[in-house]
Amino acid sequence: MKVLLVTGGAGFIGSNFVHSQLKNTENKIINLDKLTYAGNPQNLATLANESRHVFVQGDIGDSVLLEKLLADHQPDAVVNFAAESHVDRSIHGPEDFIQTNVVGTFHLLEAIRAYWNQLNPQSQQSFRFLHISTDEVYGSLTTDAPAFSETNPYAPNSPYSASKAASDHLVRAYHHTYGLPTLTTNCSNNYGPFQFPEKLIPLLIMNALQGKALPIYGDGQNIRDWLYVEDHCSAIAAVLAKGSVGEVYNIGGNYEKTNLEIVHTVCAILDELVPDSPYRPHHKLITYVKDRPGHDRRYAIDPSKIAREIGWQPAETFESGIRKTIAWYLEHRGWVENISSGSYQNWIAKNYGAR
Ligand code: NAD
Ligand code: TYD
Repeated sequence: MKVLLVTGGAGFIGSNFVHSQLKNTENKIINLDKLTYAGNPQNLATLANESRHVFVQGDIGDSVLLEKLLADHQPDAVVNFAAESHVDRSIHGPEDFIQTNVVGTFHLLEAIRAYWNQLNPQSQQSFRFLHISTDEVYGSLTTDAPAFSETNPYAPNSPYSASKAASDHLVRAYHHTYGLPTLTTNCSNNYGPFQFPEKLIPLLIMNALQGKALPIYGDGQNIRDWLYVEDHCSAIAAVLAKGSVGEVYNIGGNYEKTNLEIVHTVCAILDELVPDSPYRPHHKLITYVKDRPGHDRRYAIDPSKIAREIGWQPAETFESGIRKTIAWYLEHRGWVENISSGSYQNWIAKNYGAR
C-alpha cells in the first residue's frame, strides 16, 4: 500500500483518478482540493465511507497547510491535477490561472522539496512528484504536421496554456537543479464521466438534452485528439510505476476529430439513446458562433514513447468511449441538474451572450 497526495481530486480527471486508484489498488489517497467552481464534492459522494480516502479542502498555494499534510501523511508520491483548466475562462480572466497554475505549483514544489530533503535515502529514491500537463503547451499544428512528441518546442497560445507551460518549466527546473524525482505527463483532450459542462462534449450533451443551441466556434474544423478519461488514469498509474525520473510522457488516444465530427457523433448517439426526445434530430440544434480569440487549429499527440518505454495503450476506442460517456450523463441527471446552478448560468451568459 502506498500513500498518494492527489491535488485537484474533486475535479474531472482528478476524481476519476481517485476512483480508479481506490478500485484497482490498495493505495490510500489524501485528496487536497480548493473546491473552486470546477471542484465538485458530488464527484466523490460514493467515497463517504471509504477509509482509504481523506478529503482536505485547501489550496496548493497554502505552504503551511502543505507542510502539515506532508508531515502528517508521509506520502510516497504526489500527483498534481490542481489547476484552472478552461481556455475560455483564461481569456475572460487570466489572473486565477497565473495564481494557481504558476504560483500555486511553485509553492507546491517548494513544500515537496522541503519534505523530500528530509526523507531517508531509500524513500528519497522511491518518491515521485507527477505533474499533469497538457498538449496545449506545444501550440497549434497545421493539418498535415506530425503529431506532438515530447521534444516539440513549447509555443503556448492562450493564457491557460502559457500558465501550464510555466508550471512545466518549474517542474523541470526542480528536477534539474534540486534532483527532485519528477515526472511530467502532457495529455490530449479528455472526455468521460464527471466532466464539468463548460467543456465541449458535456456542454453538447447537456444542451442537446434541453433543446438548447449547440454552439460551434468558427468553422468547426478545429481538431482535437480525444482520450477517454479512464485511459488517462491508467496511463498516469503506469507512468508513476514505471516512468523514468525527470522524463516527460505524452498521452493520447489516437483519435483526432474535428469539432463538427464530435457534435454530429454526439447528436446521432442521442437520437438513438433518447428516441422520444422532442429535439430529434439533435443536429438541427447546431449553431455556428463567433470564434474563440487565438483558437488553436489542431492538437495531436504522438503517444509512441509511453507505448514503447512503459507499455501503455488506451483500452477504449473513441466510439466505445463516447457511448459510455453519453450513457453516464443520461444516467446521472441529478449530478447534471445540481451543476446547472446560478454560477454555471452566469458563465454561460458571459461566454455565449455576446457571441
Ligand atoms: P478541472 O477544472 O475539472 O478540475 C480542477 C480541480 O482543481 C478542481 O477540483 C478545482 O477545485 C481544483 N483546484 C483549482 N485550483 C486549485 C488550487 N489552487 N488548489 C487546490 N485545488 C485547486 O480540471 P481537469 O479537467 O480535471 O484537469 C486536471 C488537470 O489535467 C489540469 O492540470 C489540466 O490542466 C490537465 N489537463 C486536462 C485536460 C482535459 O481535457 N480536461 C487535458 C489536458 C490536461
Ligand atoms: P474545450 O472543451 O474547451 O477544450 P480545449 O479548448 O482545451 O481544447 O474545447 C474543445 C474544442 O471545442 C475547441 O476547439 C473549442 C471548441 N468549442 C466549441 O466549438 N464550442 C464550445 O462551446 C466549446 C466550449 C468549445
